Amino acid sequence: MPGGCSRGPAAGDGRLLLARLALVLLGWVSSSSPTSSASSSTSSASFPASAASARPPLPDQCPPPCECSEAARTVKCVNRNLTEVPADLPPYVRNLFLTGNQLAVLPAGAFARWPPLAELAALNLSGSLLEEVRAGAFEHLPSLRQLDLSHNPLADLNPFAFSGSNASVSAPSPLVELILNHIVPSAEERQNRSFEGMVAAALRAGHALQGLRRLELSSNHFLYLPGDVLAQLPGLRHLDLSNNSLVSLTYLSFRNLTHLESLHLEDNALKVLHNGTLAELQGLPHVRVFLDNNPWVCDCHMADMVAWLKETEVVQGKARLTCAFPQKMRHRVLLELNSSDLDCDPILPPSLQTSYVFLGIVLALIGAIFLLVLYLNRKGIKKWMHNIRDACRDHMEGYHYRYEINADPRLTNLSSNSDV
Ligand SMILES: *[C@@H]1O[C@H](CO)[C@@H](O)[C@H](O)[C@H]1NC(C)=O
Ligand SMILES: *[C@@H]1O[C@H](CO)[C@@H](O)[C@H](O)[C@H]1NC(C)=O
Ligand SMILES: *[C@@H]1O[C@H](CO)[C@@H](O)[C@H](O)[C@H]1NC(C)=O
Ligand SMILES: *[C@@H]1O[C@H](CO)[C@@H](O)[C@H](O)[C@H]1NC(C)=O
Ligand SMILES: *[C@@H]1O[C@H](CO)[C@@H](O)[C@H](O)[C@H]1NC(C)=O
Ligand SMILES: *[C@@H]1O[C@H](CO)[C@@H](O)[C@H](O)[C@H]1NC(C)=O
Ligand SMILES: *[C@@H]1O[C@H](CO)[C@@H](O)[C@H](O)[C@H]1NC(C)=O
Ligand SMILES: *[C@@H]1O[C@H](CO)[C@@H](O)[C@H](O)[C@H]1NC(C)=O
Repeated sequence: MPGGCSRGPAAGDGRLLLARLALVLLGWVSSSSPTSSASSSTSSASFPASAASARPPLPDQCPPPCECSEAARTVKCVNRNLTEVPADLPPYVRNLFLTGNQLAVLPAGAFARWPPLAELAALNLSGSLLEEVRAGAFEHLPSLRQLDLSHNPLADLNPFAFSGSNASVSAPSPLVELILNHIVPSAEERQNRSFEGMVAAALRAGHALQGLRRLELSSNHFLYLPGDVLAQLPGLRHLDLSNNSLVSLTYLSFRNLTHLESLHLEDNALKVLHNGTLAELQGLPHVRVFLDNNPWVCDCHMADMVAWLKETEVVQGKARLTCAFPQKMRHRVLLELNSSDLDCDPILPPSLQTSYVFLGIVLALIGAIFLLVLYLNRKGIKKWMHNIRDACRDHMEGYHYRYEINADPRLTNLSSNSDV
């Protein structure tokens, strides 16, 4: 504008008008493009029209904060503190790294572009302070096979985050690998919702993840895995539930996961595996199960699992498994236990048990000594009892005699005289 003003006023008016128009147009284009993804969050159907008018395709563009390599089909926008997904991603991108940013919210259609990012196969959003992922956030990415959302405090994961934003239409998701390690938010951010329930809802929504082969859910403080989740993921090859707080697997069914190749359950709170689970794992043709660092309880309920461990080839490093409880069994190797080691009486703590046993032995000894003394002294005791009886009789007779004398009034005077 200042350039236009320095010229003559007569010619300047027309140019000024043109320049203003151009500026307004430019301003509108640049301001509308970054917000287009956010505004489309309410109705993703409107996205192609707004995106198309905002930006014609430019094959060689690279968003300023990113590094692009067309040869490697890779775009990296790493550790840039970005607060939203760059609008002008090159259409060739196959691997997109958006790690170490401050995205906070991923709206619906966050990666919807025109033309669409049809090649995008691997998307890494790890460690980008994501707290909310809205319905349909990964819509319009027809080739997306691998998604990493690890290390984000996901307090609000929409049930339709991985399927379409339109709940009534459940197009299958192209996802093959979904990596959700350490996405547990802090206790305050979680409010009063069940984190397990929230993640499970997103995994089963609309049966969209039927094609999933790898699912990683480690380090999420999971106390349980909702039972019906696995039924919705029949294609799973790899399931990682390590470093959670799982206590039991009895409510889970692995029966239909016939393709399962690895099952990671290390670093949980498992106490024992029961017959039902053992039979299901044994029935899976290709599976390898990892059970290290669980606090196994070696009482009578452990007998079935120990017997199974001795036979099975399913458990990797089964010789490393050791008991954590009860105290007397601590660090004993599960494989080396036999049925005589596994009993169920320890209700009292061991220290108390030994003191009760000691007390019992002392009392029994005292009793035995007492009986022995009685037995050895049986003659003396007889004599002693006779003496007592005789003494009693003498005393009683004397008493009787005196009573009879006292009772006779005629002898009262005589006796009183004789006493003096
Ligand atoms: C991102 O933010 C952190 C802390 O707020 C700062 O130290 C760092 O320099 C920022 N990085 C960039 C690329 O701006
Ligand atoms: C995603 O990026 C993080 C941080 O760079 C990295 O540790 C992780 O392995 C990446 N995920 C995948 C699936 O490559
Ligand atoms: C969802 O899809 C159904 C069927 O295609 C359509 O009738 C409905 O209007 C859509 N809803 C939204 C909110 O887009
Ligand atoms: C969770 O808390 C909100 C208020 O913060 C309350 O309205 C809601 O009923 C609570 N839900 C449950 C399941 O307790
Ligand atoms: C296990 O999970 C906790 C918190 O969930 C995390 O701090 C820790 O780094 C994790 N350990 C490993 C080995 O991943
Ligand atoms: C396993 O699959 C069969 C047949 O596909 C089905 O009837 C059954 O309900 C499934 N069981 C579980 C626990 O999902
Ligand atoms: C578990 O199975 C074994 C062998 O099939 C059987 O001997 C044992 O009684 C079963 N245990 C329970 C608790 O049902
Ligand atoms: C139990 O195991 C010990 C060694 O760990 C062995 O000496 C003992 O004979 C075994 N008992 C039975 C009944 O197998």
